[in-house]
Parts: sequence; structure tokens; C-alpha cells
Amino acid sequence: MIKTTLTILLALLVLAATSSVVFAYGGGNYRKGKYLFRKHCRVCHAEEAKGPKPAKSLSPVSKTMDEWVKAFEPESVAKYPCKDVWDKLAAESKGALNDIFTYLHKHAKDSPTPLKCK
Ligand code: HEC
Repeated sequence: MIKTTLTILLALLVLAATSSVVFAYGGGNYRKGKYLFRKHCRVCHAEEAKGPKPAKSLSPVSKTMDEWVKAFEPESVAKYPCKDVWDKLAAESKGALNDIFTYLHKHAKDSPTPLKCK
């Protein structure tokens, strides 16, 4: 009985540990993120709507740090019309989305260093 309980507990622990690794963003290269964001995202999310699917303007200061965390959750991204762009970027370069997240989060509206992307 104790053995079964322990096994279940261990399994839950392993599950919790691995799932947080999969979804946790942060600690990326924000300089690279800035470059990647300008290159791949600002095409559509610019001040003036342009690009294949013109979208609303996005800058690090568009959201709070918490809002950026939510915006990068897979359940959120699944609903974006630009999901294909995210998927393509993730397939091309491991860590690219994490770098972009790190840049946006680091300079969010309520961060110590808010920044508008020009
Ligand atoms: C082909 C054009 C296009 C590209 C490229 C693009 N997006 Fe989008 N994105 C859209 C459209 C259209 C929407 C729908 C909502 C809107 O108008 O902003 C959207 C929605 C979003 C949203 C949700 C809206 C919000 O304000 O929370 C986020 C976040 C987002 N995009 C981030 C990105 C990031 C990060 C990249 C680069 C990896 C990117 N997008 C690339 C067109 C694009």
C-alpha cells in the first residue's frame, strides 16, 4: 500500500518537473530576441498596419510582465492567426521564441526598464 502511494507520488513529481520545463519561458538572449522580434513579428505588428495580415502594433510596453507570460502560453498562441509564424520560427531555430519572450518580458510596461520597439 505504502509502495503504491510512493510510486504515484513519484510519478506526479516527475510529471510536474517535466511539464514545467516544457512550458517555462525565460532566461533567453534578449538582444537576439529584439532582433528576431523586429525581423519576424514587427512585419505585421508595426505602428502602421502592413504585411500579409496587418495586426495591431506590439511593443514590449504593450503588455505587463504577467500578460507576456500568458501571451506565450501554448493555449493562447493556439488562438492567434499568426500561430503558423510561431510554429515556423520554433521549427527553424530552437530558442528563438524564448529569446523573443525574454526581450518582451524584460522591457514590459511594469518592468524596471520599459521599452517601446521602434
Ligand atoms: C503575418 C502577420 C503576422 C506576423 C508575422 C505575426 N503576427 Fe501576431 N498576430 C497577427 C494578427 C492578425 C493577430 C490578431 C490580433 C491582432 O490584430 O493583433 C495576431 C495576434 C498576436 C498576439 C495576440 C494579440 C495580443 O495583443 O495579445 C500576439 C501576442 C502576437 N500576435 C505576437 C506575435 C509574435 C511574438 C510574432 C513573431 C513571432 C507575431 N505575432 C507575428 C499577425 C501576425
